[in-house]
Amino acid sequence: MAKNTLTITDNRTGKQYEIPIEDNAIRTGDLRQIKTSADDGGLMGYDPALANTASCKSKITYIDGDKGILRYRGYPIEELAEKSNYLETAYLIVKGELPDAKHFEAWRHNITIHTMVHENIKKFVDEFRYDAHPMGILVGTIGALSTFYPDAKDIMNLESRRLQTRRLIGKLPTLAAFAYRHSRGLPYVYPDNDLSYCGNFLSMLFKMTELQYKPDPVLERALDVLFILHADHEQNCSTNAVRSVASSQVDPYSAIAAGVAALYGPLHGGANEAVIRMLLEIGSVDRVPEYIKKFKAGEGRLMGFGHRVYKNYDPRAKIIKKVAYQVFEVTGKNPLIDIALELERIALQDDYFVSRKLYPNVDFYSGIIYQAMGFPMTMFPVLFAIPRTSGWMAQWAELVRDPEQRIARPRQIYTGEATRAYVPIPQRPEPSMREEAVAETI
Ligand code: CMC
Repeated sequence: MAKNTLTITDNRTGKQYEIPIEDNAIRTGDLRQIKTSADDGGLMGYDPALANTASCKSKITYIDGDKGILRYRGYPIEELAEKSNYLETAYLIVKGELPDAKHFEAWRHNITIHTMVHENIKKFVDEFRYDAHPMGILVGTIGALSTFYPDAKDIMNLESRRLQTRRLIGKLPTLAAFAYRHSRGLPYVYPDNDLSYCGNFLSMLFKMTELQYKPDPVLERALDVLFILHADHEQNCSTNAVRSVASSQVDPYSAIAAGVAALYGPLHGGANEAVIRMLLEIGSVDRVPEYIKKFKAGEGRLMGFGHRVYKNYDPRAKIIKKVAYQVFEVTGKNPLIDIALELERIALQDDYFVSRKLYPNVDFYSGIIYQAMGFPMTMFPVLFAIPRTSGWMAQWAELVRDPEQRIARPRQIYTGEATRAYVPIPQRPEPSMREEAVAETI
């Protein structure tokens, strides 16, 4: 009968080991018993970028990258995008179930009453340079929030965890909007709790002299759908950063600040900004073949294409492509969509992209929508960070409650020098030899 184990023969010693397989995984800790001698530290797994290592067990988000499937707590993303709203989806992600009417109302209320931020945070934002990138401001202000809420250190306390979750989901749009208004030299707009989560965000961004800002319902809904699509994505770079930092048992504000920092990079949340820059550089549909050639030659990447997990069309990109046309009904067409469509058309027929299973990802069309809605490019990753906060908080709470999790501490394979004796400066080698060695280090 088939056994759920893996038998390993160590050809160095001839010994055999039987290792259990659980959930289609082995525990790499089980490899430690494989040794050549008593003082050997044991076999390790070498997995740069953790491409084939499960770092946790999670019940939040399911992805089948080959089939292009994404589900939150078992619910297909397509259904949530069509029928749910961001706050309800955030509840689902954080709590594990869809709320009934009473619980939804309580959740909405509990988040809405936390939309204000301490006035000192406003002053803090004021002190950033006029051209500070809003993601930099977000990293700083979220980190600063940890000093305002010392109770957040009580991470083992359920009530404290709930409170910080509401605070963070409630305050993120306010911090993001303050960062934007600062960059424009505009006065900050305080939250309007009569509006929806996205309506209030749009108000804090774009309200001018009117008494009450009235968001366009199509744009408000489009943003809500984009927020649903960005709410969680299992163990991506920023979530891994949140979990890794949180594993030291630091407060969640510090952990989420780390997540935002990770999201800032062009290979992650910064990709939609990079897509727009690429489309602007290409400039017209007739130049697309020339650029495809460049990408294939390794001169830059086709931004918004490819994914570590999806080896099929990213299901979020499909939905976003549709939303783009709804937004254009209100804003007028963003001409960059034509260049994007042509890139997609050619790439999906080209063997380079087909053989590597490179398809449009979530970032390929989202920037085009954000630009049509009037967001500057620097705000794009911020629009990713706001909804991802519910995912990060759910992942954080899961980590904190998981008895198997300990402080994250990967191993390494040391490839540096063996022991060396310290040499005083006058006796060190010729400068040219030293400079060559040093030049390569950073
Ligand atoms: N354009 C051209 N070639 C690419 C691209 C691309 N966008 N993405 C991957 N490749 C090639 C890559 O050169 C490599 O080719 P070869 O095997 O000949 O060396 C092969 O495809 C595999 O690439 P990889 O870098 O090993 O794949 P990865 O899983 O490490 O990277 C990725 C995934 C998303 C970082 C990468 O596809 C990429 O840089 N894409 C562009 C940036 C982007 O759109 N990022 C947003 C990701 S989705 C949102 C998010 O999660 O934040």
